[in-house]
Amino acid sequence: MAFGRRRNASIYSSIMTAQLSKKSEAWSARFSEPVSDLVKRYTASVFFDKRLAQFDIQGSLAHAEMLATRGIISAQDLADIKRGMAQIQSEIADGKFEWLLDLEDVHLNIEKRLTELVGDAGKRLHTGRSRNDQVATDIRLYMRAAIDDIQGLLREFRLALLDLAEKNADTILPGFTHMQVAQPVTFGHHMLAYVEMFGRDAERMADCRKRVNRLPLGAAALAGTTFPIDREQVAKLLGFDDVCHNSLDAVSDRDFAIEFCAASALVMTHISRMSEELIIWMSPRVGFIDIADRFCTGSSIMPQKKNPDVPELARGKTGRVNGHLIGLLTLMKGQPLAYNKDNQEDKEPLFDTVDTVIDTLRIFADMAHGITVKPEAMRAAALQGYATATDLADYLVKKGLPFRDAHEAVARAVRACDDRKCDLSELNLDELRAFSTLIDQDVYAVLTLEGSVAARNHVGGTAPAQVRAAIARVRSRLG
Ligand code: ARG
Repeated sequence: MAFGRRRNASIYSSIMTAQLSKKSEAWSARFSEPVSDLVKRYTASVFFDKRLAQFDIQGSLAHAEMLATRGIISAQDLADIKRGMAQIQSEIADGKFEWLLDLEDVHLNIEKRLTELVGDAGKRLHTGRSRNDQVATDIRLYMRAAIDDIQGLLREFRLALLDLAEKNADTILPGFTHMQVAQPVTFGHHMLAYVEMFGRDAERMADCRKRVNRLPLGAAALAGTTFPIDREQVAKLLGFDDVCHNSLDAVSDRDFAIEFCAASALVMTHISRMSEELIIWMSPRVGFIDIADRFCTGSSIMPQKKNPDVPELARGKTGRVNGHLIGLLTLMKGQPLAYNKDNQEDKEPLFDTVDTVIDTLRIFADMAHGITVKPEAMRAAALQGYATATDLADYLVKKGLPFRDAHEAVARAVRACDDRKCDLSELNLDELRAFSTLIDQDVYAVLTLEGSVAARNHVGGTAPAQVRAAIARVRSRLG
């Protein structure tokens, strides 16, 4: 406990200093005694929600504009509010804005400073509004911007993977099932699998954005407001597609944030799967790829080491993003309508999710250009595991043998190769015919790795021609 308190104090010291002893200024008349310093620190969110400042100001300016249009505040009030907000914006940008713990959160800090700067107009800004609809609006504006950034990075990453796929449309590596060599595939095809995953991630983000992009403002505390507001105008000013249609729902649900975290958890899950492969491929035991030095680190004790830290860390960070999803689901599940203070806890997981996904995608988009493929090692591995056994079975089926019999004949051939320590393609025709007299000289065309991949020539198949066609398709979609 003592350690925990000291740790908190040091993290928050820049905001706490000299503020703890002041009497609470936020609630004034209703209260007969100030809250304790600990409660003040416990309930405050300014440490983290000050990150929403630009969106808070954007929302306030739109609200003020509407209040003036509807004659609820004067044109002079609006001009004063705009002037004050411009000053606040530059104070924040210059790092000169003084964030006060006593003012609890980003909303009250900005409103208080506005009133200091412009007087009564600042006090009128909150007419017909509550922090409940204000914060819900801020988060949605923040998330919309975050989703747009993530979409840009997902696109960049996919373009980098497409380049890698194109360079390796003909590069053969063993495809695995159960981590056992299964059939040869092309490295280009393998990269395109990830392009598909990250493409669906982009679709999910776009879909989530539709539900993020609705305006809660106007719901006020929970029931709406008695002022003649125009929510459509505010929605238009802020670029929202629609307004939230129920005030109780607007201030209380955070399903859009949960959806975003779910979409982010899938982004990270795909990143993590890819990381796992990069790590295995870079292991000297496998040696399929190398990753540029700028994404790796050494060991403090073993001079020979070059470790794939970036993919390892990304795989690890997937855990915290998945955790945030569960955190938000749990935060929401027991809440009665409408707003509850619990919802203040939505921000840190959300911010951390955004930061983690953005940093990870940025670094992966760059790292994709720093992957060196080693075709000889991939080829040697593909030759080791009887990767063309299915091709031999298919060959026998095409010569009239029922598939199950073909499967059995090839299984016997593989077993013989195992004993002789050779590949199927190394058996001569007589040796092969011992397993089926249907086998002829033309069998060698299907037993080669190149023949095997080229034969899978349909949409979604691994043939180099299909890989090139798929790359062109995705490129035209990405523009
Ligand atoms: N900091 C609060 C939050 O993040 C803002 C809304 C506070 N509303 C209230 N009624 N206390 O949710």
